[in-house]
Amino acid sequence: MPFTYSHSSAFTVFKECSLETIIKEINQIDTDLLLFIVDGKVWEKYGANFDFKQVFPDKKVHLWKNPEGERAKLHSEYVSCTDFFLEKGVHRNAHLIAVGGGATSDFAGFVAATLLRGISWSIVPTTVLAMVDASLGGKVSINTNAGKNLLGAFHLPEKVWADLNFLKTLPPHEMRSGKGEILKYAYLDKSIYDAVMNSNGDLHEIIPKCAEYKLKITAEDFRERGMRKLLNLGHTFGHGLERIYNLPHGEAVMWGLALLCYLFKKDQLLSELQQLKLTLQWPEQDPPWLHKTFPTKDILFYAGNDKKKHSNSEIDLVVPEAIGDVQIKTIPLLQIEEMLIASEGNLKKFRL
Ligand SMILES: NC(=O)c1ccc[n+]([C@@H]2O[C@H](COP(=O)([O-])OP(=O)(O)OC[C@H]3O[C@@H](n4cnc5c(N)ncnc54)[C@H](O)[C@@H]3O)[C@@H](O)[C@H]2O)c1
Ligand SMILES: [Zn+2]
Repeated sequence: MPFTYSHSSAFTVFKECSLETIIKEINQIDTDLLLFIVDGKVWEKYGANFDFKQVFPDKKVHLWKNPEGERAKLHSEYVSCTDFFLEKGVHRNAHLIAVGGGATSDFAGFVAATLLRGISWSIVPTTVLAMVDASLGGKVSINTNAGKNLLGAFHLPEKVWADLNFLKTLPPHEMRSGKGEILKYAYLDKSIYDAVMNSNGDLHEIIPKCAEYKLKITAEDFRERGMRKLLNLGHTFGHGLERIYNLPHGEAVMWGLALLCYLFKKDQLLSELQQLKLTLQWPEQDPPWLHKTFPTKDILFYAGNDKKKHSNSEIDLVVPEAIGDVQIKTIPLLQIEEMLIASEGNLKKFRL
């Protein structure tokens, strides 16, 4: 089912469509110059037979191939890429197109935001995570030696075209990473929960619903002053678990969600999580802390360092009460420490 959602004030449009339609719509963009930034792995899999001159006969095209994944977001890549485009020749009416996962769209969006003080851009997301999350909402960034996403901007893409055929080549751990974000949305919104359960996990049904939800929230709270914080559900603990165990992002979000339900004694929500995972064909797993000491100190360290923290001694935690009912609670880190210590023994036996 094709699906379109437009921001009322700005102009992000998310559309599920075929590559043929994407090419047709790119040809209709009012520009004579296209700047493509493509993830290296995606180029390797899909680019070999792609002839830009043939598919975009009326446009000049400059192509930058990114190193695959997170390495795309290196500061040095930003310098090389912008130098490359500027040397080739760019004007204000050029349109940039990112093709890849969230790392590529974050990077390409930052290039688009800064090149000649900002040019228009669009995204062809090729991972589940990028389709439901990273390509939407206009947050763009690169990494620096001091940390992830520390140089960035808000720069909305004009269009986001999602062709789910790209997902056929996505490795299983990257699929799970995107599904972790889908679990988050299912907790946030009852109609997404219903879409997952009623469609038997069909991503064609689920992805547009998640995208619609994120676009709605980010349109209401573009600069992340309020509502947008809800999207952090599962991430306060998830970010820590991601670093401690080197987990794929969405998998860490899933464990972050589970931990949250466990600590706040939401047994019903834990069984919902199990059902959702099953429906999304996510195999049962032991927790990453199974054969190790439970990482209370490290989890607290990362939660305390979270950029969304409330103060030095308190954090804002998004706590689920029921499906479709979540609340932002300001909680002392000391209280979280006590909850974690009290649960360590039982958490060791946890399986989901
Ligand atoms: N801007 C935002 O609002 C926002 C939100 C969430 C995440 N992010 C960012 O997104 C990034 C993570 O995005 P991601 O999970 O998409 O990872 P990614 O972009 O790093 O891609 C993951 C891996 O999949 C490969 N890949 C991509 N598409 C493929 C395909 N169709 N077939 C085979 N392989 C493919 C890539 O080469 C890479 O190795 C992080 O940098 C994160 O900070 C941004
Ligand atoms: Zn996330």
